[in-house]
Amino acid sequence: MNLFSLSGKSALITGGSRGLGKAMARGFAEAGADVVISSRSADDLKEAAAEIGAGLNVRVEWIAADMSDRAQVKALADEAVQRLGKIDILVNNAGINNPQPIDEITDEVWDKNVEVDLTACMAMARYLVPGMKQRKWGRLIYTSSVLGLGGRLHRNVYCACKAALIGLAKANALELGPYGITANCLCPGPFLTDMPMKLLSDADKQKFSDRTALGRWGLPREIAGPALLLASDAGSYITGEAIVVDGGVFANVL
Ligand SMILES: NC(=O)c1ccc[n+]([C@@H]2O[C@H](COP(=O)([O-])OP(=O)(O)OC[C@H]3O[C@@H](n4cnc5c(N)ncnc54)[C@H](OP(=O)(O)O)[C@@H]3O)[C@@H](O)[C@H]2O)c1
Repeated sequence: MNLFSLSGKSALITGGSRGLGKAMARGFAEAGADVVISSRSADDLKEAAAEIGAGLNVRVEWIAADMSDRAQVKALADEAVQRLGKIDILVNNAGINNPQPIDEITDEVWDKNVEVDLTACMAMARYLVPGMKQRKWGRLIYTSSVLGLGGRLHRNVYCACKAALIGLAKANALELGPYGITANCLCPGPFLTDMPMKLLSDADKQKFSDRTALGRWGLPREIAGPALLLASDAGSYITGEAIVVDGGVFANVL
């Protein structure tokens, strides 16, 4: 028996066009799952889907949807079920990060961040949990962050949303455990993706890698293993957890 096999399972990964989401989608596909990836850019999704499915005998579908638009979130959930017949594993991974000092936060930026980083995640779970309950098997995985557990200057809305996802996963876990559904967060540290590369100065990029025990940034594929643990039967007794994947950042308190 391969505990990490996802053969016969279907997964939806939001923010699957690049970065961590794409790496998780490839990991799931390699483990035998059919996958749907989503993001806003059809061109990026098309290219990513081809890469994710390359050399594998699984279905890789893509659906363009903006997670800041509630109607598109609902349409994404419905369309994903229609394409693959069911969704067993939901990875709520799409995220944005707009730093603003507390006394300069605009309603527009706050609301958009909360919508994408938190509310859309709840909504996706709300739409897909009924099918998981019926089948008595499901996996909810939320991409939180080490910034859901600690803070960083000016990341007010980001830290608030990432911490909220940890609370959401714990509440989900308690409610859905009787249905064979687990709910967990992944809390990545510094990973080499577009998000931090666009936000950080060169000095901060160096500082981030210096803070890790491993002395380097994480590569996107290094999130695939922890995600696969939570998605597969290997992680069947892990629920309500926030799994830190940070190269040892939190080992370094001073
Ligand atoms: N990289 C890190 O160091 C790190 C650390 C901790 C947590 N995280 C979290 O990991 C997750 C993935 O981020 P990443 O690092 O892989 O960043 P990324 O490369 O910027 O990827 C973000 C993904 O989300 C999608 N997305 C953004 N806004 C969206 C929207 N409104 N609707 C639908 N999709 C949207 C993007 O595609 P489009 O822009 O084309 O829509 C892309 O596919 C995020 O939740 C992030 O907060 C990252």
